[in-house]
Amino acid sequence: MKTPQRVEYGDFQTPPRLALKACALLKNLGLSPSSVLEPTCGIGSFLAASEDTFQDCSMFRGYDINPHYVQAAREAVRSSKVFHKDFFRADWQEIIRSLREPILILGNPPWVTNSGVGAIGGTNLPSKSNFQGFNGFDAITGKSNFDISEWMLIQLLEQVSGRSAALAMLCKTAVARKVLRHAWKTRMQIEKSAIFGIDAMAEFGAAVDACLLVCRLQPGANSNECDVLESLDALHSSSKIALRGNRLVADLDAHLSYGHLLGTSPIKWRSGIKHDCSRVMEIRPTDGKDMYLNGLGEIVQLEDDCLYPMLKGSELIKCAPPSRFMLVPQKSIGEETSQVAANAPLTWRYLHSHSELLDSRASSIYKNRPRFSVFGVGDYSFAPWKVAISGFHKQLRFFPVAPKRGKPVVLDDTCYFLPCNTESEAKKLAYLLNSDQARAFFDAFVFWDAKRPITVGLLSMLDLDLLALECGSSSATRQASLPLSNHPGD
Ligand SMILES: C[S@@+](CC[C@H](N)C(=O)[O-])C[C@H]1O[C@@H](n2cnc3c(N)ncnc32)[C@H](O)[C@@H]1O
Repeated sequence: MKTPQRVEYGDFQTPPRLALKACALLKNLGLSPSSVLEPTCGIGSFLAASEDTFQDCSMFRGYDINPHYVQAAREAVRSSKVFHKDFFRADWQEIIRSLREPILILGNPPWVTNSGVGAIGGTNLPSKSNFQGFNGFDAITGKSNFDISEWMLIQLLEQVSGRSAALAMLCKTAVARKVLRHAWKTRMQIEKSAIFGIDAMAEFGAAVDACLLVCRLQPGANSNECDVLESLDALHSSSKIALRGNRLVADLDAHLSYGHLLGTSPIKWRSGIKHDCSRVMEIRPTDGKDMYLNGLGEIVQLEDDCLYPMLKGSELIKCAPPSRFMLVPQKSIGEETSQVAANAPLTWRYLHSHSELLDSRASSIYKNRPRFSVFGVGDYSFAPWKVAISGFHKQLRFFPVAPKRGKPVVLDDTCYFLPCNTESEAKKLAYLLNSDQARAFFDAFVFWDAKRPITVGLLSMLDLDLLALECGSSSATRQASLPLSNHPGD
């Protein structure tokens, strides 16, 4: 198959050895199905492995969209019936209704996202894709992007909830968690779940955390905890994930010890400034007064009105002093930029001379905004002190950020921060956030294998006043006096 097609159909056939190992594990867990369903069976690795493993089972059904694979699977199996079918057009209610209990649904659905399919002009997608109910802004920021397998597994679980069944699927670990969260939130009748890590690089050449997700369902069951095991060979779970309240907990033990610090942050966590044009908006000082070098290799003269010393996440974690400036033409989101013309004419001319690059920034957040707008800017961006963390690095380390030569240091959009008025406020918050208690709290909720495990959402869950009490300190935020105003588009 050509590469784009392989991508669109998530076409990575499971090695027969892995399918056999997964089936052996399921048998050891006590599964003894009367029917087996492989909804995207490919060339039939799981069908063949399950025929070999579950010898008391009399009903094996496989489906795939690729007619060549259907043919290959028919040749690879003994008693399975294999059908040519598009998952998104199949009547799973009808298909699953006809299966004898206990049912085992197993396999390896395609590992591709809806935006991945969209990017190559593909159509292998469900017709109704906003199943998480996201709003338009989430769609813009990419939050509503989802894995095709997530959608598929949820459809299948919905059909077997209330029956004696099990679902065992190879998938990205992040998908397994999303599926569990959905199933738990919608009260599907799950009795027991486990996530067994697999080496996706060794098995599929895929640089992603992946697992075998196993969910057992029984009528009336309502478990919302899941054992996490490092591999298919592991004898004991390394942690437990769970749903508590409406939140997914990454480590139930840490949650039991520090979950009481959950609240809302009394100071609002902020993202750094986003401009999507570092070649123009980030400049380095040169020896000449008011002369700077931009990312296009040009030496330019600019007033210092709109220039702020800046740090990126990668500089923050090295405790490097700011070596660059960011051109910030606005004080708040949506503010007219034309005021720059009056206050800083050289800067205005500079922006105009690079308008081609600035006007062609792809993100829709710049659409219908004043020309040369940036995003994530507000009074908080100009707070004299900050406590910041890199969102790009998988490290829970918080740094106080001092002003430089009387100017606040701004952060780029790889960072998150709390704005502070004074040095003592920033140092106290950094001390609290770097405490063992704060670390344990975040451990309860952070999934380190996620692409960006540290988010504003995660940081905002920690109640800093409760943390201060826990650490034997007075209120963390009493001194905080910055206006915590919301800006449009925050
Ligand atoms: C990751 S491969 C796994 C194949 C097989 N389950 C295995 O474990 O070896 C994903 C399979 O999903 C099939 N597939 C992709 N989109 C599908 C769809 N809309 N309907 C049915 N099968 C589909 C592909 O043809 C491919 O065989």
